[in-house]
Amino acid sequence: MGGSTVLSGKRILLIIGGGIAAYKCLEVIRRLRDGGATVRCILTEAAQQFVTPLSVSALSGERVYTDLFSLTDESEMGHIRLSREADLVVVAPATADLIARMAAGLGGDLAGTALLATNKPVLIAPAMNVRMWEHPATQRNVAQLRKDGVATVGPEVGELADGEYGAGRLAEPATIVDAIETALGQLRVVPGGLDGPLAGKHALVTSGPTHEAIDPVRYLANRSSGKQGHAIAAALAAAGADTVLVTGPTHRADPPGVRVVAIESARAMLDACAAALPVDLAVCAAAVADWRVTEVADDKIKKSGGPQTLKLVENPDILAKLAAPGPNRPALVIGFAAETEDVAANAAAKRGRKGCDWIVANDVSQAAGTFGGEHNTVTLVTADGAEDWPRLSKADVAARLADHIVAHFAKARAKTRGKASGGAS
Ligand code: C5P
Repeated sequence: MGGSTVLSGKRILLIIGGGIAAYKCLEVIRRLRDGGATVRCILTEAAQQFVTPLSVSALSGERVYTDLFSLTDESEMGHIRLSREADLVVVAPATADLIARMAAGLGGDLAGTALLATNKPVLIAPAMNVRMWEHPATQRNVAQLRKDGVATVGPEVGELADGEYGAGRLAEPATIVDAIETALGQLRVVPGGLDGPLAGKHALVTSGPTHEAIDPVRYLANRSSGKQGHAIAAALAAAGADTVLVTGPTHRADPPGVRVVAIESARAMLDACAAALPVDLAVCAAAVADWRVTEVADDKIKKSGGPQTLKLVENPDILAKLAAPGPNRPALVIGFAAETEDVAANAAAKRGRKGCDWIVANDVSQAAGTFGGEHNTVTLVTADGAEDWPRLSKADVAARLADHIVAHFAKARAKTRGKASGGAS
């Protein structure tokens, strides 16, 4: 068992629609259960043409619900209870027909009535033929659902089951689980009010890549997805910190309850970080470009100009600047390091060089696919030594880091109190 802290103990109601991609839901169920969630499933009539109730029941370890009237023997309120006992309702694959029925509020079957009766957040993972997806009716229905507060994941662009190419593929199981974790993470945020163990603290997080312009249309960039940094901002906000996220260009949604400042270049990231000060803690998770071109061309560089040489100059080190001693230095400054060997020793050296308090070191040799991937294997290096963490999802690395930050400030508070009472006696 993975023992995910975000999924652990959560109850998911998964409504499986009738599409060729329905088989991918079996993998979603497996991953959710591995993370410690309970998964109850409703299969629409059409879904039963693609996956059997028996396989879904075997994987979920729960009874599978297939039609409205199968619930009446349990209780008249069966479908209502089923939808309300969940923390989150997920519809995957969400077919054009299911989406249309949701948008219209139709309750002709168990899936429809459960979706109408629920008082819980709903996430849909659409999957269909590209023409069906692009049809104005489907787009209208999806827009309506989004307006109603329904979250979406996918569809992805690619080869479709019918041989056509375009948007319509069901998001991959890992991506669906990631979206489920994000949706569940949002449940922990108290809207409009900052509550929790970091209440009253101000946090600054950097995330994503930076884009360094070469000319008006081209730039230097890297493969950072922003997944880890965004998850950290979400976890700190969920713990009650007033959180600012300074992020380079990513495809990620703004984390709930977080003030997001979108920038492109390293220098803009530095300016935005400086503007966010003073803060109590800073976490630099961005993959800042080490270099930028010395002079950005005003006009698009012409191919006809022949081979080009780019002259590069070093970017400011944002982490080192934030960690430098001074009146505005955050009480806790945390950096990241990607290491391939001697992780703890190299990270400890980097901690000294940068002047930060903690380093979260990724073992990029072992955890291949860390960039843009779902998991991270990290070592936390502090003044007290190095602590190896197991392979965790990025959301769980974020939750665990937030727990350590909470413990750090609690310890600092206790120390201050101890000193104060010691002085009085
Ligand atoms: O020096 P290196 O790039 O390995 O350091 C990584 C750490 O430093 C990360 O925390 C990253 O966010 C931060 N960094 C920064 N500004 C830079 C380069 C790295 O904040 N220009």
